[in-house]
Amino acid sequence: MDLYGQDSETVDGEQDLFKPEYKKYKRKDIKLDLGDVIDFTKQNNMDSVQEIVLQESQHPAVRGLKPVKEWKSYAIKGFPGFIFIRNPFVDGHQRYWIERCVLDYPNKPSKTILDNLVDMSNVSDVWLTSQKESGSNITNKDSLIMKLRWATMGYNYEWNSRAYYDEMKSQFPSDLYELCRYIAFTIGYHNFSAETAIVNYYHMSGDMGPHKDISEIDHDAPLLSFSFGQDALFQLGGLTKATKPVCLSLHSGDVCIMYGDCRLVYHAVPRILPADQDNLKHCYNFNEDSPYHGNKTSEENDPKSPDVSEGLAARRQEVEWGLFSQYVQCTRINMNVRQVLPPGGTNIADYPQPVCPSVNCKTGKTSSVHNETEQTKS
Ligand code: OGA
Ligand code: MN
Repeated sequence: MDLYGQDSETVDGEQDLFKPEYKKYKRKDIKLDLGDVIDFTKQNNMDSVQEIVLQESQHPAVRGLKPVKEWKSYAIKGFPGFIFIRNPFVDGHQRYWIERCVLDYPNKPSKTILDNLVDMSNVSDVWLTSQKESGSNITNKDSLIMKLRWATMGYNYEWNSRAYYDEMKSQFPSDLYELCRYIAFTIGYHNFSAETAIVNYYHMSGDMGPHKDISEIDHDAPLLSFSFGQDALFQLGGLTKATKPVCLSLHSGDVCIMYGDCRLVYHAVPRILPADQDNLKHCYNFNEDSPYHGNKTSEENDPKSPDVSEGLAARRQEVEWGLFSQYVQCTRINMNVRQVLPPGGTNIADYPQPVCPSVNCKTGKTSSVHNETEQTKS
């Protein structure tokens, strides 16, 4: 029995040290204790972290990132292969990525949870439809944008079989591809090819249960995970649940990289927390006249991307930024980017599919960490 009156469970003969830790942060009926949480902004529990120096990226510059020599990057003792980059974005520039995640990435050709929930045949623009249908009720739980919990791009993850298929694939956004390639270079991975992304939209009561991401064929490439908007607690464990996870506080702009020994470990998001408003002001500003506004197409404000210019300025004109800001104020966005195929690979079908241990062999049912209609489950 632990402090919270819970028995730690046994999985495959090993004690599950993940679940009790997960519950400790997830439970809303007990006082949240952040005493053990690593927080890079508050410099809490920094004795278990080690500052590391990343390489200058040789990949063509991506607008909106600070020079690599100014980034603060860390490794965590006992969790080799995990790299944390504290918000490397230039002040204000997260606006660009948040706009992309809310205004563009949920639209076709992406696949989203909305395809399973509502008739999307007449919806070509998720945000503008929500704005029109819900107006100032946009953050009510039944607005279209609030029902959006995930979108997938590139290879579209099939949640039931927990696999990717060559037939379920759309073009990967080139701006996100370039951003990831640039960042992967700084950790010494020179040919990262972003082939799939899950964009997760968490609201304040959201969470994501312990899981590992093993469905990709290639596990040598790093997994890149970006946080925007509200804060999250993120737990990082080991290859089995017998490793007690560490817990990190993630803030807007932070980048987590799971690489090498850490690529296949258990991890979870037990809790979303309100972000510090002063910090958010440095991250983005949704006033009409702020720089990095998506409809500015000048060299200066337009990150390198052929996707972004076409039709975008006109759509941005229709956005009510007050409502947009209201939405981001109760949302955490996670762009979770992976390479699927080994270098030089072209088809999934050429490779055996990784066996996913969480597919229950007896029932054929999958466990639902990340199931088709919900984002999360513990
Ligand atoms: C995922 C994931 C973590 C996060 O999408 O697989 O682990 O920080 N996301 O939201
Ligand atoms: Mn994951």
